[in-house]
Amino acid sequence: MDGNGRWAKKQGMARIFGHRNALTAVRESVIAASEIGAEAITLYAFSTENWKRPKLEVDALMTLLTKSLKKEVPDFMKNGVKVNAIGKLNDLPDNAQQTLKEVIKTTENNSKIILTFALSYGSREEITSCIKKIAEKVENKELSINEINDCQIQQHLYTHNLPDVDLMIRTSGEQRLSNYLLWQMAYAELYFTDVLWPDFRREDLYKAVETYQNRERRFGKTSEQLDGEHEQVT
Ligand code: IPE
Ligand code: MG
Repeated sequence: MDGNGRWAKKQGMARIFGHRNALTAVRESVIAASEIGAEAITLYAFSTENWKRPKLEVDALMTLLTKSLKKEVPDFMKNGVKVNAIGKLNDLPDNAQQTLKEVIKTTENNSKIILTFALSYGSREEITSCIKKIAEKVENKELSINEINDCQIQQHLYTHNLPDVDLMIRTSGEQRLSNYLLWQMAYAELYFTDVLWPDFRREDLYKAVETYQNRERRFGKTSEQLDGEHEQVT
């Protein structure tokens, strides 16, 4: 979700005005994703690097997060949204951690879509912490070095309960991954749009999904091999 600050600036407003006006984009994206049958949607809400922003903006973002999470609970329940979070969650202010825990607990039995907030999230930090967890198991003789494989690594990432990323959408014209889900995006289709996040609506999500549907995902194989597989299935 990128472009909130620029969206506000365009209107001569403070950056936080952009963050506040981004909630409609979040709601529409989650509902639209769930309606088209996506099993998970993950929003990069706050990165490990975002802590370097002015304190005023960081505080405002944390307050906005806490208040909005609480406010959205009835809609999460109505729409079957199971809330989840990834990142160095202990770095968040106490009340944000508390609210997050409560909302995760309240929505834990919902099953239409998993909505994950990446908070104080950085992919390198995630991979580092994953390596430490695995090293600890090796040291304690719970795991042997030969047992370390893709699957073991996946199980020690914050996203252990989520599928790999199929489609990554970045708004506001930037074409970077910015330390987001690097392991999980190994075979993701990347989609970049100039739309600023506060302007993002369900039609924009549909456009991204339509583009995704027209891509050929080969996972290292050839087109011909894939044709063969399709024939076998049908
Ligand atoms: C994205 O908008 C929201 C967060 C990272 C919290 P930005 O705040 O990055 O907006 P720009 O990039 O300055 O326009
Ligand atoms: Mg930005």
